[in-house]
Amino acid sequence: MAVSVDKILRWKQTGAPAQPLAVLTAWDVMSAQIVDAAGADIVLVGDSLAMVSLGYDTTLPLTLEDMLICAKAVRRGVKNALMVVDLPFLSYQISIEEAIRTAGRMLKEAGAQAVKLEGGHEGVLETVHRLVQWGIPVMGHVGLTPQSVNQFGGFRKQGKTEKEADRILSEAQDLEQAGAFAIVLEHIPADLARDITKALVIPTIGIGAGVHCDGQVLVTADVLGLSAWQPPFAKVYTNLRQQAIDAAQQFCGEVRSGQYPG
Ligand code: KIV
Repeated sequence: MAVSVDKILRWKQTGAPAQPLAVLTAWDVMSAQIVDAAGADIVLVGDSLAMVSLGYDTTLPLTLEDMLICAKAVRRGVKNALMVVDLPFLSYQISIEEAIRTAGRMLKEAGAQAVKLEGGHEGVLETVHRLVQWGIPVMGHVGLTPQSVNQFGGFRKQGKTEKEADRILSEAQDLEQAGAFAIVLEHIPADLARDITKALVIPTIGIGAGVHCDGQVLVTADVLGLSAWQPPFAKVYTNLRQQAIDAAQQFCGEVRSGQYPG
């Protein structure tokens, strides 16, 4: 049966979450078909696609229109997993009205089942509350929130001091109160992720946050070894980049030698 927001929301409440949630990103129809066929519970159209697929240095330049094009392609490749789409930088921060319009377009035009947005401060909480009121499920994201890279001075681990850790824990609790159905914990100490996971009723999905989360997410291009660079916490399961270069080189060689077409 296809995965629903309701199923994810009740993941921990059933008392026996059989296995951690497996979450992977997708950015086009091929990557979507691959992660869906692999049995991922959630396919995230993460704004990391700005870096992975569009070649930007950060996620900030991604526009709403870029994201809609990619999300529509992903929709055509996903059958079973829950499809969640990131709201790009500045597409939800300016006003709640704009956030509702942006998130609504992700559901209406791209067929997303939920949206993800970053941060847990007051402004975000009101937005999450209103989106959920209007029937738009929201996944939260705290810790290293890449849209704030300029404030962090790089893609650095967060929550290392007690003060920062307390802030991240209370942001996660506030997001749950505001109605988020799950929360991504990115690049924070494992102990902090464990405390947050214990404190919440909704599932936590970790990336570079240790073993205690209710689920794990990775960027698919990292898992497949397609990206030129991977963050330190990513696990690379195969080296498709080199295999693709080898295959393309073989083709070029065969064309030049006349072996193809043969
Ligand atoms: O943009 C993204 O891919 C993400 C994941 C890394 C959680 O937000």
